Amino acid sequence: PRSVTRGADGAVAVAGLSVRDIAAEFGTPVYVLDEADLRSRCRDFRAAFPTEDVYYAGKAFLCRAVVRMIAEEGLHLDVCTGGELATALSAGMPPERIGFHGNNKSVAELGRALDAGVGRIIVDSFTEIDRLTALARERGVRPRVLVRVTVGVEAHTHEFIATAHEDQKFGFSLAGGAAANAAFKILDEGVLELRGLHSHIGSQIFDASGFEVSARRVLALQAQIRDARGVELPELDLGGGFGIAYTTQDDPATPQDLAKRLRKIVDSECAVENLAVPHLSIEPGRAIVGPAVFTLYEVGTVKDLDGLRTYVSVDGGMSDNIRTALYDASYSATLASRASTAQPLLARVVGKHCESGDIVVKDEFLPADVQPGDLVAVPGTGAYCRSMASNYNHVPRPPVVAVCDGQARLIVRRETEEDLLALDVG
Ligand code: LLP
Repeated sequence: PRSVTRGADGAVAVAGLSVRDIAAEFGTPVYVLDEADLRSRCRDFRAAFPTEDVYYAGKAFLCRAVVRMIAEEGLHLDVCTGGELATALSAGMPPERIGFHGNNKSVAELGRALDAGVGRIIVDSFTEIDRLTALARERGVRPRVLVRVTVGVEAHTHEFIATAHEDQKFGFSLAGGAAANAAFKILDEGVLELRGLHSHIGSQIFDASGFEVSARRVLALQAQIRDARGVELPELDLGGGFGIAYTTQDDPATPQDLAKRLRKIVDSECAVENLAVPHLSIEPGRAIVGPAVFTLYEVGTVKDLDGLRTYVSVDGGMSDNIRTALYDASYSATLASRASTAQPLLARVVGKHCESGDIVVKDEFLPADVQPGDLVAVPGTGAYCRSMASNYNHVPRPPVVAVCDGQARLIVRRETEEDLLALDVG
């Protein structure tokens, strides 16, 4: 996070609070959210995209306090399940600023979205178009929809988080003609209000050329729809996926750079196709919340495998951060509770779960005197860590603490063993 410093005692401080105090008050592991950092990232996106809509992708991390923060900063919100929708609504997010995603929205979820009056639904299959059409007829409403287009772009990211190549479950294929047919079906039936097209090419992307190719392809489809039906769709959503720096080797673009490139390609492509420039929106999740959070762990054991490697075990692991095990993601770690002048030691930070893939940070230099009781901070854990946390090995999920101006506020409490037991029947 942006407001991290080292105090006189050598301990890391965030927003003026020592990690030692945070650990003493809330326990470890704990996700620490630097609220000013999160808000400033929202503002950076708003400033870079002032006439566009910025939808925060709630799947990255969602709780009521964060919904309120992003709403106050003028963002919109992308949800993709009934649970995310319920969280957004219960935090008071204006429904017209919510977009509803998902490749398998149930009848119940779609009904709830219509009853709440969400601003738009991004339709993902012919089945869904039929489902939504029936629900809209029943209710006598005309929901606004976007068609999610699979643009066939190979985003250079991990296979599991790339979403726009042909052979995957999301969206309507552009190449196969399904995307055009979906748009025609909606326009011809006239029950849903087709506002525009949507594409999302993947996540943790650094090379903006993927967005350029996808913008070009969806705008060509937009022109095809205009030529076939005489309708110019007023909106275009280019999705999220903007990469963040997990380690010093990553070099992400700024929101300003992104905005410039996206606008330029959209403007020039619209000129080529003789289209009015549509109202743009984007859906960043990771880039808003990822860097604003670090996880604070306590070291429990240190095991030196003679000459091979040193294993530093912390009191969490793959249950609070599955990304290293699942995507081979890279993180860094810092000794946070004190300064040390000891030699750097190549260490692996691992968790307390019962499998050897339970790795938080694969390789990191930590001071050779790292020992039980030390606090270790792992930065960049705001996105897809708490939201993908599990109870593997019956480990209760850690709390989220928001820090701001020297104050710490619990925004998601720690799960307890009673919480876990409460689900057992019998
Ligand atoms: N819009 C849509 C339609 C999406 O599917 C996603 C992410 C986003 C926006 C936000 O993407 P972001 O800006 O956060 O990259 N669990 C994986 C990431 C999965 C992303 C799923 N969709 C991870 O931990 O890397």
